[in-house]
Amino acid sequence: MNTHAPKAAATPAATIRPWTARSLLFVPGDSPRKLEKALAGEADLIILDLEDSVAESAKPAAREHVAGALAEQGERAKPLWVRINPMDTAHALTDLVAIVKHRPDGIMLPKATPDETRLLGHYLTALEAAAGLEAESIRLIVVATETAPALFRLGDYAGVPRLDALTWGAEDLAAAFGAAANRDAQGNLLEPFALARTLCLAGASAAGIAPIETIDPNFRDEERMDRTAQAARTLGFRGMMCIHPAQIGPTNRAFTPSDEDLEWARRIVALFEENPDAGALQLDGEMVDIPHLKQARGLLAQAGE
Ligand code: COA
Ligand code: MG
Repeated sequence: MNTHAPKAAATPAATIRPWTARSLLFVPGDSPRKLEKALAGEADLIILDLEDSVAESAKPAAREHVAGALAEQGERAKPLWVRINPMDTAHALTDLVAIVKHRPDGIMLPKATPDETRLLGHYLTALEAAAGLEAESIRLIVVATETAPALFRLGDYAGVPRLDALTWGAEDLAAAFGAAANRDAQGNLLEPFALARTLCLAGASAAGIAPIETIDPNFRDEERMDRTAQAARTLGFRGMMCIHPAQIGPTNRAFTPSDEDLEWARRIVALFEENPDAGALQLDGEMVDIPHLKQARGLLAQAGE
């Protein structure tokens, strides 16, 4: 691949279903204060969490708060999603019954497998019908790498109804492995967790849906966040999950195609339009061929062109 082209050269092909949320901000479901801040902030999408950021004793109150917040936000400035508890816990159905009638834009399923994601889809179909909502209006994102068995199923998400994006997590996987750490002292992922990330990218690509980068737990270092988000975008991730407002600016910047990238893409598309019978051409002394054209079109599609 042409390493001299602008960042756009690393943008994935246009075959990924459209996805627009660059920054996905977690808000613990039992924190009205943080939700208020999140609603007023710049995150593209908010994930109200009922799972790991909520203590067992606080689950009922969190569920009630999240249901109330969804009901209150009938007209939404940005999508409100809910991370429910895993399907093999008693909480999952209680979460769904409490929230679906208030029309969350989507559900994030943690510790997921493809089979559980399909099962969740069936539950949603029943609950949407009961609430008089349009079928399949509630979308899904899964956290696809949080258990050891799940790692072996990353290629099986193609065709799963409602599924718009795949993301991954290193914290629960470390616990599953009994690993003492998932990153080195510089914050770089250790090998098994880098593999999980790659499998997420490949699995999302195989399913034609958006791969979303996991959280960076270190929210004080803005420069590191810039680097992490840029690196994710270079690999083809379409957005990144955030846990703190300080992470949103760097994330939105990284996942917004730059003017330089868009200009590069327009020039490639124009070049191939001028030479409709050519497979390989040159631009500024560099070979460009069909994969570059696909990348350029994908980039312009992301920018709405
Ligand atoms: N969403 C919205 N606002 C947030 C926020 C979030 N995720 N995290 C922090 N804030 C707000 C705080 O309320 C605070 O505002 P305030 O002083 O006006 O109340 C401001 O940002 C600065 O917060 P700070 O003091 O730096 O951090 P903290 O100690 O309050 O919170 C965490 C640190 C990690 C507990 C918090 O960021 C958090 O809860 N993150 C989400 C955790 C989560 O959902 N995890 C599950 C997914 S991995
Ligand atoms: Mg977790």
